[in-house]
Amino acid sequence: MKKILINECKIRFRAISRNESFSRSAAAAFAMQCDPTASEIAEIKTAVSEAVTNAIVHGYRNVDGDRRGEVEMIMRLYDDKSLYIQIKDKGIGIEDVEAAMQPTFTTAPADEERSGLGFTVMESFTDKVRVRSVVGRGTTVTLEKKLGGKSGA
Ligand SMILES: Nc1ncnc2c1ncn2[C@@H]1O[C@H](COP(=O)(O)OP(=O)(O)OP(=O)(O)O)[C@@H](O)[C@H]1O
Ligand SMILES: [Mg+2]
Repeated sequence: MKKILINECKIRFRAISRNESFSRSAAAAFAMQCDPTASEIAEIKTAVSEAVTNAIVHGYRNVDGDRRGEVEMIMRLYDDKSLYIQIKDKGIGIEDVEAAMQPTFTTAPADEERSGLGFTVMESFTDKVRVRSVVGRGTTVTLEKKLGGKSGA
């Protein structure tokens, strides 16, 4: 049966690190309408945070201060309690998505102390992660998670 879209929200914000916590809270607030469990909310916040941090840190790596681009977040909720969150940047893009998604793969310089586990975290805290990326044009990450909610439906 085709699922029915029951709510949708689009947000755009500047690709700066102070918006990482904003995006986490926005995702949690949107998901609240499904009466989710505390762990579902924690998982959504963590997964969104990883994707948004990637857009900010990697996507716009070589762009300074006020020339930084934007991150767009689109959230959709369907009648079967499935939540889709899309995080888009128009940054540098990813050359090899499959390689980038391998645990411990990172292109960050050693002094940033990144562990290369962001995609692994997104995958373990959601049901599905899809990545579309074009070098020089940007990256879109879609997180999909079915919420059981407190009612256990
Ligand atoms: N939005 C993006 N734009 C450009 N490159 C990206 C983007 N997201 C991820 N990448 C690339 O994919 C790699 C792996 O990402 P991942 O989040 O798994 O690890 P990380 O960000 O390097 O480290 P960690 O998330 O553990 O701090 C990054 O090092 C980067 O090369
Ligand atoms: Mg990361």
